[in-house]
Amino acid sequence: MTDSLPSFLSADVRLGAALEALAGAIGDLEVQQKKLDTLGGRVVALAKANSAEWSPTARSALSSLTARLALQQKTLDQTRAAFAAARDAVQANGRAHDLALEQYRERELARYQTMQVMTRRQGALARVLHSLIEQRRREAGMPDPDSEDYVLMKGAYDYIPFDVNRFLDLLGRLDTILSLDAAYADPRLRYRPVRFLEAGAGPGRNMMLLKASQLMLIESVAGIDLNGLQVSNGQVAFGLEDSLFVADALAFDYAPYDVIFSYRLFRDDAMQAQLEAQVVATMRVGAYLLAPFPFDLTLHPGLEAVDPDFDIWKKVR
Ligand SMILES: C[S@@+](CC[C@H](N)C(=O)[O-])C[C@H]1O[C@@H](n2cnc3c(N)ncnc32)[C@H](O)[C@@H]1O
Repeated sequence: MTDSLPSFLSADVRLGAALEALAGAIGDLEVQQKKLDTLGGRVVALAKANSAEWSPTARSALSSLTARLALQQKTLDQTRAAFAAARDAVQANGRAHDLALEQYRERELARYQTMQVMTRRQGALARVLHSLIEQRRREAGMPDPDSEDYVLMKGAYDYIPFDVNRFLDLLGRLDTILSLDAAYADPRLRYRPVRFLEAGAGPGRNMMLLKASQLMLIESVAGIDLNGLQVSNGQVAFGLEDSLFVADALAFDYAPYDVIFSYRLFRDDAMQAQLEAQVVATMRVGAYLLAPFPFDLTLHPGLEAVDPDFDIWKKVR
């Protein structure tokens, strides 16, 4: 699409200019034809008025009119030639325009088909990943995610994993944002490696994905969850003994981290609002908050929506 769109647009512009020139040529033709008709009318009127006898004055007027008529006929012929050229240019540009449009359509179709393939592949990879994680969970002796053992507290969501592809997309987008953020500039790297925290990390699947995907430059990855069973199982399953801890996200200090990921912990709006207030109050200025499905982060004037499509926010004051 990217390379065919400009050629389609310039064909469009050229056709527009040719049509405009044709409209001008038609206008000229009408003007010159009218002039010729007027002169012709004057010759006929003169002939009628002098049909009985031609006086020298009438003869001289006739000869002057005839000369002007011949000149006007020449001008009209030239105008006709200009009109024919303008018409041919419209036809040629019309054909070029149709061709460019056809090429554009073909490329758009190819792009759409490629996107379909990529989407299916993404879905397939997410399913493969999910089944490997499930296998790992069973091997580590972790109960089924739907088991009663995971029920936490009233108002809180139990473990609901964030969509893998959306999580990876989010990381890719944040990587770009960090590479453009002067506050994270590094003399040798795309940006200074960041300290990442996931609030409500469950067994730490996202922490594992973040490290394994290498989509971002990371100094450290940490996670907290109030569900001790999730945490201990995740520590075993994903080797997160040193980085996944039991802690209450509502009372946690978020200051040491550059990036905080928090996928909606509470179904209860008041509790979710309380969590968001706690995160914003304690996170450091310059840190990023990735918060899909928040209660309302616009309530916090110190937070700026860096990329609303990806739920990426930054504390700016
Ligand atoms: C919707 S799941 C999110 C799972 C994970 N963050 C993800 O995106 O894949 C919410 C998680 O928050 C945890 N949680 C709920 N209340 C909490 C609290 N007060 N402190 C810490 N974690 C909590 C739950 O145990 C659950 O694992």
